Amino acid sequence: MTSTHFQIGNQSVQCYFNASFSNIDQWVPSHQCIFITDENIAYAHPAAFAHKQTIVLKAGESTKQQQTIDYIISKLIEKEADRDTWLIGVGGGVITDITGYVAGIFMRGLKTGLIPTSLLGMVDAAIGGKNGIGVGTYKNLVGLIKQPEFILFDPHWLTTLPTREWSNGFAEIIKHACIRDVDMLEELLNHSIEWYQNNPKELATLIEKNVRLKWSIVANDPWEQNERRLLNFGHTIGHAIENTYQLSHGEAIAIGMMYAVKLSAATNGLEETSIQIMEKAFTQYQLPTQAMIDWRKIAPLIQLDKKRKGETIRFIVLEEIGKGKVQEISLETIQTILF
Ligand SMILES: NC(=O)c1ccc[n+]([C@@H]2O[C@H](COP(=O)([O-])OP(=O)(O)OC[C@H]3O[C@@H](n4cnc5c(N)ncnc54)[C@H](O)[C@@H]3O)[C@@H](O)[C@H]2O)c1
Ligand SMILES: [Zn+2]
Repeated sequence: MTSTHFQIGNQSVQCYFNASFSNIDQWVPSHQCIFITDENIAYAHPAAFAHKQTIVLKAGESTKQQQTIDYIISKLIEKEADRDTWLIGVGGGVITDITGYVAGIFMRGLKTGLIPTSLLGMVDAAIGGKNGIGVGTYKNLVGLIKQPEFILFDPHWLTTLPTREWSNGFAEIIKHACIRDVDMLEELLNHSIEWYQNNPKELATLIEKNVRLKWSIVANDPWEQNERRLLNFGHTIGHAIENTYQLSHGEAIAIGMMYAVKLSAATNGLEETSIQIMEKAFTQYQLPTQAMIDWRKIAPLIQLDKKRKGETIRFIVLEEIGKGKVQEISLETIQTILF
C-alpha cells in the first residue's frame, strides 16, 4: 500500500493506493461511520459490510436523484448521525457521487471517505470532488464540489466487476492517454482487459497513474475554467448519443472520441494514422468505434450541452495523441466535417 496526500486549494485529500478495505479501521473510527453502497456490491461482497451500519441503494443511474437523497437523509436521522459521523461511499460513480452530495448538505457537511469499486470510479468518478444527481432526464444537473477526506483504492473489488463495466473504465483511461499521455496509450495497445485482470500489480499501477493524471489536471483548475475541460474529450458527442442510442457511457464516449479524432485530423492536422491507432485501442478494450448517428437527432442535444458558448461549442480536439486542447468550433463546422 502507498499513501499520498493531494492538495487542492486549501483542502487535502489522502489517497491510499493498492490498499485493503478490510483495514478500514486503521483510517477511520468505524463505529462512527455510515456506509453507503448499492445492492450489487453488497450482494457480491457481503463480508465487507458485516457489522457495519450500511445504507444499501438500488444499483444504476436512476438512483442518482432527489428521492434517494431524501431516503438517505431519513436513514441518517434514524441512525442518529451527527457532525462527527463519517459517510463512506463504497461503490461505482453513482454511489460516490451520491455520497459526496449528501455529505455536502447533511448538517452542512459531514466528513467523507470514498471507496470506488468500479474501474471507472477508481480512475475518474471518485476523483476531483464533483458530486451530483440528475433531475428528470438531465444528468448531473444539481450538485456541489466537495473533496472527501480520503479515497481508498482497493483493486480487490474489481474481481466481481462485470466485463462491460471494465470497458467503461478503460474508455476513460484511453481518454486520459489521448489528452495527456501518449506512452500510456502505447502501454494499453500492448495489453487487454484480460491481461490487466491477470496482472493485478500492473493494474494497480495503471489505476494510480490515472488517478495522478486526473489529479494534476483538477488541482490546476478545480472550477473547470480551462485545463479541466480537457477531461470532456469525447463527451460532447458522447453525452448526446448516450441516451438517444441507449449506449453505456464508455461506449458512447468511445464513439464520441472517434468523432473528435476525425475532427482533429480535419482542423488540427492530427495525423491520419492516429485514427487507426485509436480504432485499434477501442476495439482491443471491447468498445465500439462507430454508430449510425442521425445529426438531426443529436444536434439539439449538443446545443443544450453545458459546454456551449454562443453559436460555438467548446470542443476538445487533439493536436497529437497525448496532447489535447480546447477549441471553439461552430456546430456548422462539426456537421460539415463529420456528418
Ligand atoms: N463526479 C465525477 O467527476 C464523475 C466522473 C465520471 C462519472 N461520474 C458518474 O459516475 C457514474 C458512472 O460510474 P460507474 O460506471 O462506476 O457506474 P455505477 O456506479 O452505476 O456502477 C456500474 C455498475 O457496476 C456495478 N458495480 C460497481 N462496482 C462493482 C463491483 N466491484 N462488483 C460488482 N458490481 C459492481 C454497479 O452496481 C453498477 O451496476 C455516472 O453517474 C457518472 O455521472 C462522475
Ligand atoms: Zn466520462
